[in-house]
Amino acid sequence: MSKQIEVGIESMAVHIPRHFVDLGTLARANNVDPDKYYIGLGVKRMAILAPDEDPVTMAVEACRALLEKSDVDPAKIGLLMVGTESGVDGAKPIASYVHGLLGLSGNCRTFDTKHACYSGTAALRMAADWCSVHANQDRNRALVITTDIARYLVGSSGEPTQGAGAVAFFVSDEPHALILDSQPEAVFTREVMDFWRPHYRDAAVVDGRTSIDSYLLALEHTYSSYKENSKMGWDDFDYLLFHVPFPKMAYKAFRLLYEREFLHGQGCKALPLSREYEIRTKPGLWPNVELGNIYSGSLYLSLAGLLEREVDRVEGKRVGLFSYGSGSCAEFFSGRIGSDSSKWRDKIGISAGLQGRIELSHDQYIGFRQTSKQRASEGSYCHDFLPRSNGNGRKVSFCGIRDHHRVYAISKEKSPQPSPSFNLNQQVSSRPERRP
Ligand code: CAA
Repeated sequence: MSKQIEVGIESMAVHIPRHFVDLGTLARANNVDPDKYYIGLGVKRMAILAPDEDPVTMAVEACRALLEKSDVDPAKIGLLMVGTESGVDGAKPIASYVHGLLGLSGNCRTFDTKHACYSGTAALRMAADWCSVHANQDRNRALVITTDIARYLVGSSGEPTQGAGAVAFFVSDEPHALILDSQPEAVFTREVMDFWRPHYRDAAVVDGRTSIDSYLLALEHTYSSYKENSKMGWDDFDYLLFHVPFPKMAYKAFRLLYEREFLHGQGCKALPLSREYEIRTKPGLWPNVELGNIYSGSLYLSLAGLLEREVDRVEGKRVGLFSYGSGSCAEFFSGRIGSDSSKWRDKIGISAGLQGRIELSHDQYIGFRQTSKQRASEGSYCHDFLPRSNGNGRKVSFCGIRDHHRVYAISKEKSPQPSPSFNLNQQVSSRPERRP
């Protein structure tokens, strides 16, 4: 009988936008006690995109970091999927822009996946299946990217749960970061209007209470299926990571599973709830506290946070992961952290990305929102938007829309560690740049 191939996440990189708003600043502007945001929701800061950043530029920056810091030859990428709910076009996928801006080989399948925040997990699961079939072929690496902007109406109750960011990872049969367990699927779909993003708005619509209830219902269903199908459960997990719209939601999710285990008389060796939470879930949450909700990537941001901070402790440990997408679709799955942590030590980039971020005042934040909205409209292109070298290593900027083409410009600044077949110093955009 042939041995089953192990597949999973080989390496990861996170892109962190360079601006943020402190939740205390937002609370004062909204006339709310800051502790409601800091403690009640568990968020400290939310990442805000500058007008020259968008889901495409974030995805490219995350991939650029991943390619620079991993050993993977870009010519080996046979599948590129972007999990997102922040698409910039109804037809053209973000994956296509990313493929062009990175100058990847034409021998590659590219598309986006969508089901709200579940889209990253949908892409990961498809990539894992693809890798088990393509393991011995020349192009056997799947590149998965999650990229999203969480934006609600100014002054609304959703506003403190905004954020932005991208996570890129290679999926392959060399899963140094996370070896996926091959358990029967534990998925759950239920049509519900808890959170959605109509095409005619630049801010999401949400029924907050329904969204929380729907998330927890999906967790109950998927966790039950997982346990029933796999015969594994609470005592098998060293860590439990969740979709994180705001960190307190991960606590609510953890508490539900903890109480459920005790009601059923299992997991009897457990410590008190707060201690179990600190050991099993909190070690991954520190980047979510700093960035806010990054939708499709928030679960993977927690996983990246766990790998980056617990690097010497996590080898070989089992992680249970819960992914939830409003609308709704959810999955509970698991994996083991790989045995060679040196492969991803210092390579994920969260701590580095958090250094030197620029804090915005409330007025500046509102200004960024308005300019970003204006730049997303036809005719917004202006050559003044071309990137100036700002020394922070950024390479690609969104310059606006001209003749219905999104124009991206790439900085000529030399890449610190250029990969031979990964030429970011060329000028690539959806329409060739013409200086007036
Ligand atoms: N000090 C400390 N805590 C305080 C406080 C204070 N002064 N004032 C209030 N709090 C606490 C409250 O007790 C509450 O805690 P608990 O939930 O533990 O009871 C917490 O702060 C939040 O207070 P409210 O419930 O009154 O907050 P709200 O109704 O104004 O808004 C929200 C909360 C519904 C989550 C809103 O932010 C929202 O709609 N967010 C977007 C939707 C969302 O994130 N849903 C999550 C599930 S859906 C999903 O996961 C998909 C996705 O990514 C969107």
